[in-house]
Parts: sequence; C-alpha cells; structure tokens
Amino acid sequence: MAVAGKVFQANPTMAEQATAEGYLAQVSQHSVIRAVRASAVDLLSVAPGSRVLDVGCGLGEMSRAFAGMVGPDGSVTAVDLNPAMVTAAQDRHLPSPQDGMVRYQVGDVASLDLGDDFDVVWCERVLQHVPDPETAVGSLARSLSPGGRVCVIDVDWGALVVDGVDEALTRRVLDAFQLKVRQPTVGRTLRRRLVQAGLSDPAVRSVHAVSTSLADTASAVPVLDRGRADLVAEGDRAAWFDALELADARGHFMMAMPVYIAVATKPRQAQCASRLPA
Ligand SMILES: C[S@@+](CC[C@H](N)C(=O)[O-])C[C@H]1O[C@@H](n2cnc3c(N)ncnc32)[C@H](O)[C@@H]1O
Repeated sequence: MAVAGKVFQANPTMAEQATAEGYLAQVSQHSVIRAVRASAVDLLSVAPGSRVLDVGCGLGEMSRAFAGMVGPDGSVTAVDLNPAMVTAAQDRHLPSPQDGMVRYQVGDVASLDLGDDFDVVWCERVLQHVPDPETAVGSLARSLSPGGRVCVIDVDWGALVVDGVDEALTRRVLDAFQLKVRQPTVGRTLRRRLVQAGLSDPAVRSVHAVSTSLADTASAVPVLDRGRADLVAEGDRAAWFDALELADARGHFMMAMPVYIAVATKPRQAQCASRLPA
C-alpha cells in the first residue's frame, strides 16, 4: 500500500481513495497513533455535553470516540474536504443512545463556516496537507467558543531519521519524500501557530515514535513502504530498500520521528479575541 500525499486531497481517484482508507484504518491501530491520541485527549479532557468539531476527520475514528466522551447531551461535527471520505466515515458510524449525535459534512479547514460555538476543535494529521497552515489554524480558532480548546496534531517528516543504512542515500530518499508533502515540517510549528492565531495557554507535547522493525515502520510511514516508487531513480530505490531489509535482518534498523500535539484556549476577554485573525 503506497501512500502518496495526493490521496489526501479533495477528489482522489477510486484507487487512491481505497489506498487512503486502507492506510488510515491500519495506522489508527498503530501503537504510536494510539499513544498520540491518548496523550492529546488527556490534555484536552473533553467533558460530557461538549460540542466537538473534528476537522479532516478521515474515517471518523476520533469523531466516534468523541461521541462517546460527550454523551447524549453533547454533539460532534465531523468535517472532511473529500466527499468520499465523509461517506466512508458515515458508513462506519453505528449510532448508540449513550453517544452524542455525530453530523458528517464536507468542508475545507481553510474556510469553516460552522459558527463559533465549539467547546473542542480537533485537527489530526491534516495541516501537513493544506496549502496555507496559517489560514487553516485561523479558521480552527474562529470555530471555538470563548474558553473553548483546540488540539492540532501533526508529524514532522523533517525530523524523521533512519539508522542502519547508507546515510547519503537515505538523505536523498527522505529529502525527495519531503518535497512530496505540502507542509513536511508543520509539526514543529503547531504551538507557535496557535499563539499567532491569538489563542492562550498553549501546551505542546510530542510522542517520539521509535521502531526497530522495518515491517512495523512501513505499516505507518509511507516513505518506508517498498511500493513507493515516485521518489528517486529505480536503482537508488532498489538499493535503499535492499539495504533497509538487510539492516532489518541483521537487527541494525531503527527509525525515529516526533509526532507533535499542541493545545490552546480561545480567550474569554474581548481584548484577546480581537487578536484573532479576521
Ligand atoms: C492523514 S488523514 C487524517 C484523518 C484523521 N484526522 C485521522 O487522524 O485519522 C488527512 C485527512 O485530512 C483531509 N483533508 C485534507 N485537506 C483538507 C482540508 N483542506 N480541509 C479538510 N480536510 C482535509 C483528508 O481528506 C484526510 O481525510
């Protein structure tokens, strides 16, 4: 399953959509993503009765988790740019009387028009795909009610390291991969972007993903998927994956990469709110 950045845009082909859904379903089971989500939910502490907005909801796993957290007095709005992804999320939803209602809809993080009364806004692994993260974060901030909290989560592909294989070749492959991602280093910028959007009490955490298994890494990190053929010349690609497999077999392989979580609050005071971008 070779995942290229464009599978996460508005109108993927059917094959790209199938790849994207398979990838998201697989990655959501990965221990790193489970740890990231647990850490972020812990920072947010979502209360029963809350109104939650999940932007770039993908298959809607977190939307459904939030529906359980907010209970029948709360609600969740799940938004994605890609209509096929909204349908895929809806198809996975099994309503329960113990859960808050989940409403699914198509929308762009850059131009949300869902009002400004959400208690919690969640945006996980979406900003790396957008053309303008500043506009996107401003739009997330405007969706919050005063006192509401936003959580943005993203990886930092620029800080991905691989050990056990030739460094120069590895650098070429990783650099080529970064060029395919719209915002490869957005993870390290998340906290600053929340501050620049006029939000207060920013907190940042990172989960440092470390793996010594090539198969485990390839299941979650697209650049380490042997099917990925669009980065370097075929000879280099074959040499890199052969070297990775040898390193793995010898027990020398290691990959590490941070995943950042940033949380902040919309100020209640008018003078702080005036700093929010229009
Ligand atoms: C890597 S997936 C993450 C999905 C989900 N948040 C998760 O953690 O499983 C990125 C998602 O963001 C969506 N997306 C990309 N650009 C977007 C935009 N401008 N506005 C809203 N959603 C967007 C994609 O369609 C995709 O579903």
